[in-house]
Amino acid sequence: MPTAEPAGTALFLKRWLRRPLTMGAVVPSGRLLAEALARTAVSEIEGRDGHVIELGAGTGEVTKAMLATGIPAERMALVERDPELAAFLRRHFDGPAIIEGDAARLARLLQMHEVDKVAAVVSGLPLLSLPAEVVTGIVHGVFEALPRGAALVQFTYGPAPPVPKALRESLHLVGAHGRRIWRNVPPAVVWTFRRPQ
Ligand SMILES: C[S@@+](CC[C@H](N)C(=O)[O-])C[C@H]1O[C@@H](n2cnc3c(N)ncnc32)[C@H](O)[C@@H]1O
Repeated sequence: MPTAEPAGTALFLKRWLRRPLTMGAVVPSGRLLAEALARTAVSEIEGRDGHVIELGAGTGEVTKAMLATGIPAERMALVERDPELAAFLRRHFDGPAIIEGDAARLARLLQMHEVDKVAAVVSGLPLLSLPAEVVTGIVHGVFEALPRGAALVQFTYGPAPPVPKALRESLHLVGAHGRRIWRNVPPAVVWTFRRPQ
């Protein structure tokens, strides 16, 4: 079971000092944003089989919120590239599959871990601070893994959609967003992207 651990915030900051662009934030997601992502994930997997994949799970704030909403741990797979953060996740979560690796290689990672069906992908990746070619690789990988109609759930702090227009157009993605969470610091918006059925 997850435990609240202040050491998680210290580790997150330490990894940010080392890799600020791939971490994208100085501290883990706030509770309100984590809960909004979890609620969106729950509504997205209704009536669907398969795993919920969390990309860039960090210290597991969104993971904890998803478990608290009732998503079964054995339906969850966490992908985290940073070895120290992946080790932290292994120490704190004993139910979800913890996959250490690069989200850009999602299809291969899922195959290696025998995850054959995906219900939704929830991303904590800082898409807007990653290089364009990396974002392209990750988003293509996500939609290779997702069946038509199933969603990529992605938050952003800015006013623009977190998946760039050219990518949305080339993959024929339809985006929708919830209300801005003003009480999150900084205020955030949860988006969903999907390829229509
Ligand atoms: C903004 S943090 C979010 C952490 C956590 N989901 C949260 O909301 O607190 C981004 C996380 O994505 C991870 N990350 C960045 N690029 C990645 C990639 N290509 N594949 C997997 N994880 C990645 C970072 O190591 C970091 O843990």
